[in-house]
Amino acid sequence: MALSTDQNWWRQAAVYQIYPRSFADSNGDGIGDLKGVTSRVDYLAELGIDCVWLSPFYPSALADGGYDVDDYRNVDPKLGTLADFDEMLAALHEQGIRVFVDIVPNHSSNRHQWFQDALKAAPGSPERDRYIFRDGKGKNGELPPSNWPSHFGPTAWTRITEPDGTPGQWYLHLFAPEQPDWNWDNPEVREDFIATLRFWADRGVDGFRVDVAHALTKDMSEPLPKLKSLDLDKESYENLRILFDRDEVHEIYKTWRKVFNEYNPPRVAVAEANTITKRRPLYASPEELGQAFSFDLLFAQWSAKKFTKTIDFNLKLAQKSGSSSTWVLSNHDVVRHASRYGLPTGTNIDHWLLSDGQTPRLRRKRGLARARAATMLILALPGSTYMYQGEELGLHEVADLPHESLQDPIWLRDSGARKGRDGCRVPLPWTIGGSSFGFGSNGAHLPQPMWFAQSSVQAEDGIPGSTLEMYRSALRLRRELQGAEELTWVDSPRKTMHFTRPGGWNSFTNFGKRPVAMPAGEILLASKTITDGVVPGNTTVWFRA
Ligand code: BGC
Repeated sequence: MALSTDQNWWRQAAVYQIYPRSFADSNGDGIGDLKGVTSRVDYLAELGIDCVWLSPFYPSALADGGYDVDDYRNVDPKLGTLADFDEMLAALHEQGIRVFVDIVPNHSSNRHQWFQDALKAAPGSPERDRYIFRDGKGKNGELPPSNWPSHFGPTAWTRITEPDGTPGQWYLHLFAPEQPDWNWDNPEVREDFIATLRFWADRGVDGFRVDVAHALTKDMSEPLPKLKSLDLDKESYENLRILFDRDEVHEIYKTWRKVFNEYNPPRVAVAEANTITKRRPLYASPEELGQAFSFDLLFAQWSAKKFTKTIDFNLKLAQKSGSSSTWVLSNHDVVRHASRYGLPTGTNIDHWLLSDGQTPRLRRKRGLARARAATMLILALPGSTYMYQGEELGLHEVADLPHESLQDPIWLRDSGARKGRDGCRVPLPWTIGGSSFGFGSNGAHLPQPMWFAQSSVQAEDGIPGSTLEMYRSALRLRRELQGAEELTWVDSPRKTMHFTRPGGWNSFTNFGKRPVAMPAGEILLASKTITDGVVPGNTTVWFRA
């Protein structure tokens, strides 16, 4: 299938996120790689997605799963070469599948050449100015320049040793110490990222996912104020605005948009912008990145009322920006949605993970039923759906990974206070048996549980009603049925949601436990079997009225 010629292909795309290290391993080193992706292009084509988003595959010491980039314009030798990238891109394009790469502009890795140069240079030098270095406080500069915590642990500052061996300046890292923040006031940094965007766009990449898009520009003027936390639920938005969501950041994205529009078709982008909802349209505007993730549904409780309100709000918000909506239930940073929906309402997910998934008890079947219903629901909405590898198999979180196997800096840096994100990053099961369930020929970099066998591609392939077959049917039908970006709400009983799309495509979800009568119509697909016109609990049905 050739790539579509529609310049607006992205507005209602089904995008599938690949976390390359955990997708497929072609050379038996236990780490997924680009040739592994190429070897599964047929699988992706059969799944029926429009686009693949690849999490970082750049050279990296993996202090943060590849979001610590040593070199933005290369491939990690553990994952392949640029030639492998070109081959993968061509194979995906040949099947009509577009490709997004992940751009990480808030920070590099501490092994990046420019950070190494900064360490060797003197305080106040042009090399240091590409990052955010400050003198420490206290008599001998022994205290950090401010009390700021990082996202991953107690402090956002690390002290360096100067080239002459004396304790020296401190640098800012909003994430791990291996991820120094760039100074976006520095023109060289700006130019270098434009060069990176062009590098991938010239190779034929169709778009970019922009990591931590809200944080690039910062107000570092003294005195630096105190901050309790970098989380919006623990610190006020107004206080955090010294670091996040500053108006200046939008100037950067306007220059990026000019670059995107030099290409035909224009390159597209989606922002990961964690900010208050009313500011999201700025990132998503056609003058800037064009689209921004909404995580509102991901955080919404399983309830007809909450989902309806969230969807309605997001559709209006996207209209405001001239963008299309985005829907996300899972990604590489959160507990898989099959597990979230199988836990009692209000469960503290961090505590559940720390109990190795023991308390409270996970209702696996119920979680999966709701996950399937939720996925069919979002696939019926106007806008783009972003899916995460493995959700098409109905995978649950691997909540009981042995502590010694954990890799996430959230676990490593926060002294075990939070378990982190490894449980959704366990390599995919392709076969029922064999070494690492077909992921590779020689083990996997995170241990896979025995229950992966029943959730493997081989176990579900061709089995009517399996989650994989449900995704395939839903994605195929969605392509056929998708029309204008319009939705009409239809009144429906309590604990249910009903809407129609142009052309008579109806989606009805029963969020409750009790079965309810199905509205009249011809069934197209359901997340659970419908008998005698009755929709079971936790089920979505698509039908033509
Ligand atoms: C990515 C995370 C990463 C962080 C720092 C996030 O938003 O999705 O996986 O740890 O940015 O780069």
